[in-house]
Amino acid sequence: MRMELPKRLQQIAFFVEQGDSLADVGTDHGLLPVFLVLSGKIKRAIATDIASGPCQAARNTIRRHGLNEAIEVRLGPGLAPLQRGEVNTLVLAGMGGSTALSILTAHPEIAQTAHRWIVQPMNNGDKLRAYFRSLGFPISDETWLEENGRLYQVMTVCTVRDVGTSEALYRDYTHPEAEWFAYSFGPLAVNRSGLVEEAVVQTKKQLMDIVVQLARGRNPVAVEQRSIFQRRLNWLTEWLKSRGDVMNVVCENSPS
Ligand SMILES: C[S@@+](CC[C@H](N)C(=O)[O-])C[C@H]1O[C@@H](n2cnc3c(N)ncnc32)[C@H](O)[C@@H]1O
Repeated sequence: MRMELPKRLQQIAFFVEQGDSLADVGTDHGLLPVFLVLSGKIKRAIATDIASGPCQAARNTIRRHGLNEAIEVRLGPGLAPLQRGEVNTLVLAGMGGSTALSILTAHPEIAQTAHRWIVQPMNNGDKLRAYFRSLGFPISDETWLEENGRLYQVMTVCTVRDVGTSEALYRDYTHPEAEWFAYSFGPLAVNRSGLVEEAVVQTKKQLMDIVVQLARGRNPVAVEQRSIFQRRLNWLTEWLKSRGDVMNVVCENSPS
């Protein structure tokens, strides 16, 4: 039976390497592990979820595709249903960045014996990247994609401690706004063309609204917050301008 995956899950599947042993944490419908086994990219997977309804949905998908032997469903929070060293790749997709972070930090002995984390947070990507950096785990690839009018970021992280490579990603982002920018949009993604620019434009609009709201407050916390957001806004404006300049140079130099 052929299977169509949403674009977001296709990108995650692309980051999985041939022959990985994988756990899809917070699997819900189980589409990702089923697709990966059907496509021959992996042989086995564990699909976990904190709630019984999603576990049942995953079992149904797995049964429908005749993959009961290849994909095991386990009920439980975060990494608790997994053993240390049981899989080499962890996928955490479709959940908030703070949830993904709390899952990774609750069981570091399990999380860090996997070689690779593929993470697709719905928000708070900055918190995750700051955490990866604190561990010296380099982001090896990342991208932004658009589906049904919404932007998503997907990143893949190598869990072999390599402080030099991890720090090199942030070499050009030393002051606070620059660091926030790299954490939020991805130090690899911002150097490539693609939907990252749309993500920056969206965030810029949100920041403009926040700055207007905070301008009404007179207390010192609101004033300080406003100043932080204004500096971030200025950074985004300058970055978009520099991208525009790069695009103009490329167009001027293009063959007519
Ligand atoms: C929106 S669904 C995403 C499903 C799938 N991973 C995807 O990307 O399409 C989020 C799933 O994560 C599960 N979840 C939330 N917190 C969790 C946790 N702490 N541990 C395991 N699963 C969790 C939810 O029950 C839900 O099924």
